[in-house]
Amino acid sequence: MTGSESGSSQEGGSEGGFIELDGVEKVFEVRKKTGFMKRERRRVRAVDTISFRVERGEMVGYIGPNGAGKSTTIKMLTGILTPSAGRLRVAGIDPSRERTRLAHRIGVVFGQRTTLWWDLPLLDSYRLMHRMYRIPDARYRENLDRLVELLDLGDLLDVPVRQLSLGQRMRGDIVAALLHDPEVLYLDEPTIGLDVISKSKVREFLRELNTERGTTVLLTTHDLQDIEQLCKRVMVIDHGRLMYDGPLAGLHEVGESERTLVVDLERELPPIDAPAPARVVRVEGPRQWLAFPAGESAAPLVARIAAEYPLVDLSVREPDIEAVIATMYGEQAERAIS
Ligand SMILES: Nc1ncnc2c1ncn2[C@@H]1O[C@H](COP(=O)(O)OP(=O)(O)OP(=O)(O)O)[C@@H](O)[C@H]1O
Ligand SMILES: [Mg+2]
Repeated sequence: MTGSESGSSQEGGSEGGFIELDGVEKVFEVRKKTGFMKRERRRVRAVDTISFRVERGEMVGYIGPNGAGKSTTIKMLTGILTPSAGRLRVAGIDPSRERTRLAHRIGVVFGQRTTLWWDLPLLDSYRLMHRMYRIPDARYRENLDRLVELLDLGDLLDVPVRQLSLGQRMRGDIVAALLHDPEVLYLDEPTIGLDVISKSKVREFLRELNTERGTTVLLTTHDLQDIEQLCKRVMVIDHGRLMYDGPLAGLHEVGESERTLVVDLERELPPIDAPAPARVVRVEGPRQWLAFPAGESAAPLVARIAAEYPLVDLSVREPDIEAVIATMYGEQAERAIS
């Protein structure tokens, strides 16, 4: 991490992260019409002093509510947008200064927008990329064959992109992003709008890409199953700020989540008298649900109920990650309003 301005000679960024952000900000100036001939200038801090590192070969989830700053971050990582402040490096390259040089080393998929040529058959788009990225012929052919097979696109190569279904187009976009063997792949909502089968195909492919080829992956998504199935590490961004960076399981602790003890009694009884903070949250006939802090052992609670009540069966339910994250987002929103 030399601070030298000419320091883009650092090819791998080996002593720092492969992707490095230090205090990165992006501020947009927006002009809003507020009346006849009246315009108001407003500054939107889309990304607010974010710092993180991603090592080579990692697969990291990047999540947050709408407007949090995820796409803006990805656009800065590709060089499409220039940060307003801070320092950003990908493979030792400053993306906005050397966008073309970086383009040979990264791949990007924007789920909401295709990078393919709308009116051309899929294969023609790939041929154009072959030339644009100056991919050696043998390498291009080998990658094309492998990717088309893995993503099951063999029958669709002659079909114009606008005739493809969303799931087919998304797979087509992923192939396009990988033809030049990028070391890092940014995915901005790659499973948006896909059905269950297509989602699992895409996920399986990404897992393989990461484990077998060692491709570094930064994945933005609103589908938490993408994260649960693919990423050991997750970063949560809200209002442009990084709220959490760590293992997915750790979100439970941050979110002050609760586990649920489901108790089946011999018969219908009044709500169980549980020691606080455990409490009954629902009763349905002989079945009762008790919430208790996720960080605490269920054993004392179970022992007490077993001693005092006619117990038939019980089970513990882990907190739902969706609920944890919803609480996290909600708390942030409340803080922002007050
Ligand atoms: N080009 C732009 N000009 C002005 N404001 C912008 C621009 N791009 C993004 N913004 C604003 O910056 C903020 C962050 O937007 P961004 O697209 O990064 O969010 P996101 O996390 O990707 O959201 P989503 O989940 O909806 O895709 C939003 O308030 C958005 O309106
Ligand atoms: Mg977005």
